Amino acid sequence: MPERGGAIVLIGFMGSGKSAAGRRLEMRTGWPRYDTDAMISERFGSSINEIFAQHGESEFRRREAEVLLELPRERAIVVTGGGIVLRPGNVECIRELGTVVNLTADEQTLFDRVSRRTSRPLLQGPDPAGRLRELVRERGSLYRSVADFTLDTSHLTRDEVVKAILARVELPRHDVH
Ligand code: S3P
Repeated sequence: MPERGGAIVLIGFMGSGKSAAGRRLEMRTGWPRYDTDAMISERFGSSINEIFAQHGESEFRRREAEVLLELPRERAIVVTGGGIVLRPGNVECIRELGTVVNLTADEQTLFDRVSRRTSRPLLQGPDPAGRLRELVRERGSLYRSVADFTLDTSHLTRDEVVKAILARVELPRHDVH
């Protein structure tokens, strides 16, 4: 089994707080932050919604696997898109990067959070709450099985989320600010 790297990798459903936690972890550790959605978006020069609409989900997933492979094996914060665990090849790569943290929240909290932003292509249909529920049920155990630990963020502030993550990940002392 390949050795695991020193990154903190955030996985979990849309609205679980990966992006916000990733930004705060970047500040606290001073490590570089990589966001797979942002990397894909940058490459296409368009939003995730536009990529799904113009090129389809399978092309997005292909690019997602590609950017994952390009991430350096170093201390870093890696924020992933909610569907990244769907490809078995990605799972192996994610675990090689470092400690994998699954952020989760109850369905209502996830729905409230994703409803604040309209940029989730998978929730654009006529019944976004129903679709979200389906996806959460389909993917919940997958996230848990990929992660080293799971953190329910439903009732936590953003700072509490970061504190809880840092408490579980072994970091060199001087790296935490
Ligand atoms: C997706 C989640 C999104 C983005 C894309 C697909 C998913 O990322 O990658 O819309 O399949 O769950 P976030 O988890 O950051 O919203």
